[in-house]
Amino acid sequence: MRRLKVAGNSLFVVEHDTQTMRQADWIVDVGPAAGEHGGRVLYSGPPDGLAGISTSRTAAYLFGAPERQQHAPREPAGWLRLAHVSRNNLHCVDAEIPLGCFTAVTGVSGSGKSSLISQALPDLLNRHLGRADDSDTDEERDPLFAVTDAPTEGRIAGGMETVRRLVRVDQKPIGRTPRSNLATYTGLFDHVRKLFAATPAARKRRYTAGRFSFNVAQGRCPTCEGEGFVSVELLFLPSVYAPCSACHGTRYRPQTLEITWQGRNIAEVLDLTVDAACDFFAKEAPAMRALTALRDIGLGYLRLGQPATELSGGEAQRIKLATELQRAQRGDTLYVLDEPTNGLHSADVDRLLVQLQALVDAGNTVVVVEHDMRVVAQADWVIDIGPGAGDEGGRIVACGPPAIIATSTASVTAAYLADELG
Ligand SMILES: Nc1ncnc2c1ncn2[C@@H]1O[C@H](COP(=O)(O)OP(=O)(O)OP(=O)(O)O)[C@@H](O)[C@H]1O
Ligand SMILES: [Mg+2]
Repeated sequence: MRRLKVAGNSLFVVEHDTQTMRQADWIVDVGPAAGEHGGRVLYSGPPDGLAGISTSRTAAYLFGAPERQQHAPREPAGWLRLAHVSRNNLHCVDAEIPLGCFTAVTGVSGSGKSSLISQALPDLLNRHLGRADDSDTDEERDPLFAVTDAPTEGRIAGGMETVRRLVRVDQKPIGRTPRSNLATYTGLFDHVRKLFAATPAARKRRYTAGRFSFNVAQGRCPTCEGEGFVSVELLFLPSVYAPCSACHGTRYRPQTLEITWQGRNIAEVLDLTVDAACDFFAKEAPAMRALTALRDIGLGYLRLGQPATELSGGEAQRIKLATELQRAQRGDTLYVLDEPTNGLHSADVDRLLVQLQALVDAGNTVVVVEHDMRVVAQADWVIDIGPGAGDEGGRIVACGPPAIIATSTASVTAAYLADELG
């Protein structure tokens, strides 16, 4: 990037990484928060000047003294043992993952982290549990990210007694259609539709819960078929989307919208933010479970009806996580997250960390593939893979608590982690 500048170009970079921000000649900070609580330029000028902007969340991380809440690493409740794993650049690797702990898997890009943690581990676990592969079969997937069926060799050699469930969370968008949204994805919408169907007015008209779905013909707008907008074909130009003139974007038939619960119709409910919905549904326990999980993970600003296609990668990934978090915690789950902090601001990373630590405190096991040393420093255990990429990698270089990894002479990660640990 420096070379591009030296050659006379102008470089604009959208960035979450504070190290990269410090190298900039000019900083534009947008916010202060997300969604409708953001959208303003808080500062535009040389980096130093941002220090004086009290409303900037970025300034706190760029100039504030790093908060180091080091805790003693947890004691493992047992070890999940992977034996003789071969896949991609891994050749006969033995790995041990501490159960009931928070583990970070590190290493340079291409070293074999995903091969071990997101591919081999779920493969072997599913095989051990006698289940079919749980990876989704989305045909339209970007071929660059499609999983080819490179076989995994190896086995689970122990530690499965306490693991009953595997949950994988990645950054793939949650459903590609505008027919999926926050409310449908988390299951919240099922509860809401039942509330509407149970109102006296709905019962009198024999409206069932299905009537309040924009994916079912009965209740939705027939013109746009519940999409809320219609595509307008233009000669010689790409087609454009315009709000549906029949329902004005509400997605429903007028008759459906005549039914209200606590003074709001179903379209108005979909237009609520998560924060507003928390007040509106305060007395409805099943709805509140999903809503509180979304709010706690920092998504209080999103609207319930925002189509899945319009969510950012970081938002989609946190919705998946919140959906998992609202489920009853039994302490027997292994969570696998591949680069969960991708696309998140340091403030969002902190919020995510609180959630992950809570999962571990409840007795679960969390394994994250991670490049952000702030996260790695908070782990109980680190598995460093490398030392290089491709054929130069694929081996476990070091494992142990962060403080031990930071002193490893063989690990490329050590210096960066030592920096973070201070
Ligand atoms: N399906 C595949 N078939 C063959 N080789 C693969 C396949 N997937 C990955 N590889 C190779 O295996 C090596 C490890 O890849 P892997 O995806 O595990 O890296 P990683 O450590 O997760 O990197 P990053 O930090 O960039 O995500 C790389 O050299 C990669 O090119
Ligand atoms: Mg990877």
